[in-house]
Amino acid sequence: MKTLIALFIISIVHPVTNLTIIHQPNHALHAPPPGVPHAERPDRLNSIMSKLTSDDTDLAASGVTITTASNPLQRVEASINQTHASSYISLLRKTVGGLNSDTYVAPTSYRTMLTASSCWLSCMDIAAESKGPAFALTRPPGHHATKSSGMGFCLINFCALSALSYLSLSSSSRVGVLDIDVHFGNGSADILADVDRVRFASVHEKGIYPGSGEGEPEGSNIFKLSVESGCLGSEWLLGVEKCLDYVLADEPDLLIVSVGYDALTEDPLAGLNLKGEDYQQAMKMITKRFPKERTMLGLEGGYDLEATADAVLKTCEALI
Ligand SMILES: *[C@@H]1O[C@H](CO)[C@@H](O)[C@H](O)[C@H]1NC(C)=O
Ligand SMILES: *[C@@H]1O[C@H](CO)[C@@H](O)[C@H](O)[C@H]1NC(C)=O
Ligand SMILES: [Zn+2]
Repeated sequence: MKTLIALFIISIVHPVTNLTIIHQPNHALHAPPPGVPHAERPDRLNSIMSKLTSDDTDLAASGVTITTASNPLQRVEASINQTHASSYISLLRKTVGGLNSDTYVAPTSYRTMLTASSCWLSCMDIAAESKGPAFALTRPPGHHATKSSGMGFCLINFCALSALSYLSLSSSSRVGVLDIDVHFGNGSADILADVDRVRFASVHEKGIYPGSGEGEPEGSNIFKLSVESGCLGSEWLLGVEKCLDYVLADEPDLLIVSVGYDALTEDPLAGLNLKGEDYQQAMKMITKRFPKERTMLGLEGGYDLEATADAVLKTCEALI
């Protein structure tokens, strides 16, 4: 009986926190020109969302909230202004076609950048209020976008935008960023380098895009770890652990995880050999060492539709 009462009291003091998924309903307005095949396409998010909302998945029954974001435009634009150079933002707003050969921009792309940024901001708010975990499901990825240029399919760096927005909430809070996309998040490293109260760590495949994954760290708060092409989940997880050691040593108040699913075996763009379970293990490792209420995740890459959707579901299951 005493135990029961104690349990009851604990559950009042620490309400069970549940996963909130925030998705971007207008993402398909960012699409490659008709008839031009591209790995970064609307079906990526469509297949994830249909997996998460299918009858046999039933995340809602586990208390997961799936919703959209609604931040004032003023706030979203201010956060974009804080993240990118104004010359780049105006270039992006007037570009139609592409920023370079792999990064397309549709006339309606900028609108989707506003909604994606808004999704990440809302997830950040949830984690900042200790009501996480929260997962932003948006596209395209953002971690290659530097302060002054879009590249590698990325236009706006949502991860850096969330970190900088969190830091503006208070002058003493600290944030850790963990990037587990298969590619080095060179844009996030570029924007966050030597920014006070942030640590950024990335585990990625050696020798692939963007080519700067093995170079000197961009700042004293940046940690890069590359794993050999072909490596299995067990070795990758050791890399995730080292990155986590680095980020958590700074005692952050908030953790942002840039999750890319392009380290899966099936992925057409990279050469690691991960399974969906490895992402689940990574999430378990993270939530064991850092309060999940104070954690947000956001989608970066992942280009095999089925394997990615399945691994996103496994990620969510680890967060319930
Ligand atoms: C963002 O920057 C642009 C260009 O510098 C400026 O015109 C705009 O008012 C800014 N928006 C906000 C919300 O800060
Ligand atoms: C990002 O990638 C580009 C293209 O490879 C490279 O020129 C740039 O130096 C990289 N930035 C960082 C911060 O690594
Ligand atoms: Zn990637």
